[in-house]
Amino acid sequence: MQSLAVEMKGLTKRFGAFTALNGLSLNIEKGAIYGLLGPNGAGKTTAIKILCGLLKASSGEGYVLGRRVPDRSVLPEIGYMPQETALYLDLTVHGNLTLYGELFGLSRSRIAEREKELLEFVALEKWRDSLASNLSGGMKHRVSLACSMIHEPRLLFLDEPTVGVDPELRASFWEYFDVLRRKGVTIVLTTHYMDEAQHCDRIALLRQGQLLAEGTPADVIKSAGAVNLEEAFLALAKREEAG
Ligand SMILES: Nc1ncnc2c1ncn2[C@@H]1O[C@H](COP(=O)(O)OP(=O)(O)O)[C@@H](O)[C@H]1O
Ligand SMILES: [Mg+2]
Repeated sequence: MQSLAVEMKGLTKRFGAFTALNGLSLNIEKGAIYGLLGPNGAGKTTAIKILCGLLKASSGEGYVLGRRVPDRSVLPEIGYMPQETALYLDLTVHGNLTLYGELFGLSRSRIAEREKELLEFVALEKWRDSLASNLSGGMKHRVSLACSMIHEPRLLFLDEPTVGVDPELRASFWEYFDVLRRKGVTIVLTTHYMDEAQHCDRIALLRQGQLLAEGTPADVIKSAGAVNLEEAFLALAKREEAG
């Protein structure tokens, strides 16, 4: 039985002369909440897009649920929430959830069940019949998160799921992620909020396309001789620059 949900071996992505991801190697165990952390431009989105088959690596290998990506056969088993919200703006919230459900071959009754649960999770029950175009940015983001989960994937890639979400709702997101984890779902998410790492089982700190540190949040803080992750990141970045 394969215990890894995701495996990256020397993943590298170049855009022309620019290297966005530079030899990233990471293993992500099944059933974990795994955080890819780092400032803007660190390469988090690039890594997620390669794993979801939306970008082709320049070199290196990525494996998702034991299959080398890109591989269309993994798509029904994974959920992906892009950083830039992916909604049909001329459809309602209900219309978007239904469309995603149908794309994944769910029955009408199953879509209705999932819709109820997910709208509760993102606290948008009252907005079910509103056009997506009429929602605020944060609300669109929440609908997009719900859409990524409609087919109950066992592996979720969430690119900045909590950005622009108010603190109360953010806390409830983390509670729900914890519920999913207890069901055995693996969640790979990105964030540039260092304080959110405390909710992750393990984290990878990225900077300029490279891995600065990996481990449990406590391990990473300890290895940097820091008191929190913010400080750990700065200390590790300085250490790396000093060579
Ligand atoms: N299509 C592209 N063409 C050129 N550069 C890109 C492209 N996509 C991303 N980059 C660059 O790669 C770097 C990493 O981007 P990204 O993976 O989006 O970082 P993050 O998600 O950590 O903010 C950034 O400097 C970004 O400008
Ligand atoms: Mg990004």
